[in-house]
Amino acid sequence: MPKSIIAGIGMYVPANVFTNDDLTKYMDTNDEWIQERTGIKERRFANRFGETTTTMGVEAANIAIERAGITPQDIDFIIFATLSPDYYFPGCGVLVQRAMKMKEIGALDVRNQCSGFVYALSVGDQFIRSGMYKNILVIGSEKHSFAMDFNTRSRNVSVIFGDGAGAVVLQPTEDSNRGILSTHLHSDGDNAEILALYNPGTHANYWKEGLADYDDAEIGELFENHGMIDKGQNLAVMDGPAVFKKAIVKFPEVVMEALDQNGYSPADIKLLIPHQANLRISQFVQHQLKLRDDQVFNNIQKYGNTTAASIPLALCEAWQEGKIKEGDLICLAAFGSGFTWASALLKW
Ligand code: ACO
Repeated sequence: MPKSIIAGIGMYVPANVFTNDDLTKYMDTNDEWIQERTGIKERRFANRFGETTTTMGVEAANIAIERAGITPQDIDFIIFATLSPDYYFPGCGVLVQRAMKMKEIGALDVRNQCSGFVYALSVGDQFIRSGMYKNILVIGSEKHSFAMDFNTRSRNVSVIFGDGAGAVVLQPTEDSNRGILSTHLHSDGDNAEILALYNPGTHANYWKEGLADYDDAEIGELFENHGMIDKGQNLAVMDGPAVFKKAIVKFPEVVMEALDQNGYSPADIKLLIPHQANLRISQFVQHQLKLRDDQVFNNIQKYGNTTAASIPLALCEAWQEGKIKEGDLICLAAFGSGFTWASALLKW
């Protein structure tokens, strides 16, 4: 059975740099609070009307495809991970197929938030291993800036997130010293509501009271209404301390699961690429696993938390900086809304 290799990787971040000081023009916050709690110094925001989650994904995909030495017409499957899609439906995958003038191939959208890219990579890996596809494009992209509230009421959320995209091309290899060794996917829906965006949605307060104030229309008109907007019920919510507590347990656990399954220990890792949730979380995980500074890559300082884009963005930047060489043992690990968490262990 072949293994999957990352044959090409690309990233795209918008040109517009938004510093912590820039945020103070819109909300009551400050550079010291943001850096101390999250490590973030600045993030990129997409051109409001000139760029979308899909177009940023396409920019990253073009680079990944070129580096893989193929053309968009060679891609035989698209997997797109995002929580900030261009449309509620259809997904971004079909928009990539259209924008890149690809053949009438399959396009799958993954909605697993911060662990979306690792989930997407795992799905792609299964298709490569089974022999079904030969060139799979996996994209993680987010345009958070367009959907966030920049008022003080949402400052615990909106100072954290940024825009950007990363993409890889997966191909089969028979080289036993390279490729994705294993992927590990998990979920625990008990806390689904503590890091979420409830509305618009069809939940009708079924799972939890008070998530939305609905109109009393007899039919329809419930999905979204003006009252929801007036009350801020269409904004993302996050219980930061609760997320932090769970993340610092599940990150090390899922890294160890990948290492154990393949007979490695933390000392064998060349580079751990954690989802860039928060620099403090990454540092905690590094400490737990007793990893040296040079074994963990972080770039949240420059880009903020880019959710599904964060792992391919960090992986690509680390590779571009020469920190990843052929045959190196690389671990990707993610944790996020759901909760869902995941890891992938690979030999570059
Ligand atoms: N600027 C200034 N003050 C702020 C801001 C801000 N941007 N946001 C919140 N505060 C204030 C709060 O109002 C509160 O004030 P109070 O004590 O007077 O009530 C105080 O700071 C502390 O608020 P907490 O929410 O308890 O802040 P905490 O110290 O927990 O830090 C943070 C918040 C950074 C979100 C932290 O909980 C955290 O890192 N959690 C992990 C969640 C995370 O990383 N999420 C990323 C997305 S999810 C993912 O990717 C996995």
